[in-house]
Amino acid sequence: MENSPNVRILDHPLISHKVAALRRADTPCWEFRETVSGIASLMAYEAFRDVPTEKVEVRTPLETCTQTVVKEDSVAVVPILRAGLGMLDGVLRAYPQARIGHIGLRRDEETHEPEGYYCRLPAGIEDMAVFVVDPMLATGGSASAALRMLKERGCRDIRMLNIIAAPEGVDRIVKEHPDVRIYIAALDRCLNRNAYILPGLGDAGDRIFGTL
Ligand code: PRP
Ligand code: URA
Repeated sequence: MENSPNVRILDHPLISHKVAALRRADTPCWEFRETVSGIASLMAYEAFRDVPTEKVEVRTPLETCTQTVVKEDSVAVVPILRAGLGMLDGVLRAYPQARIGHIGLRRDEETHEPEGYYCRLPAGIEDMAVFVVDPMLATGGSASAALRMLKERGCRDIRMLNIIAAPEGVDRIVKEHPDVRIYIAALDRCLNRNAYILPGLGDAGDRIFGTL
């Protein structure tokens, strides 16, 4: 299913170089956080390729010209708390004008099922291109729940940015949300019995926020 046209693996050398730093067990918290943010910027560069645009008149010091810009109020970024917060400023570095929503989900350690604890989305999000960001797509449970919440709110143009994904998670999203485009930096081998991604990078939230 990862061969689906909706799944895009961004296997660029600059992204891969940064993913290596995330995977290293001895990468310190500050460098891990900076690297997640840097990867998010590079991923946004590609994933924003077909956002809504409009033409505006721009006056240069010499004359007036027409220039394509991202359509005002047409893009929202929604990090899945907590780890998704690590990608937010990277995406905003690429496009600072994005509106921002938050969805709070936590995986139960026994069942691996997501539990929702927060949802706050900007007014008008249903008419925007929505970028859901979360470094990890493991079983796909959290992502699928977040996508359901956005669709219940009326969103129809949704893309997801995940740094590392397991085939199990990708398959689930392709099956349950065939309308959603998924951008990933690395497609890993499988999940272990605790639903952690192998080889993966460990617990993204703990490594970003130093709660190991
Ligand atoms: C992690 C990760 C995803 C989820 C992925 O969050 O950031 O949201 O797990 O796993 P899944 O695909 O099997 O649902 P976690 O629940 O550990 O919460 P945290 O971000 O607060 O650490
Ligand atoms: N969440 C993480 O942070 N890491 C994994 O490997 C799986 C889920």
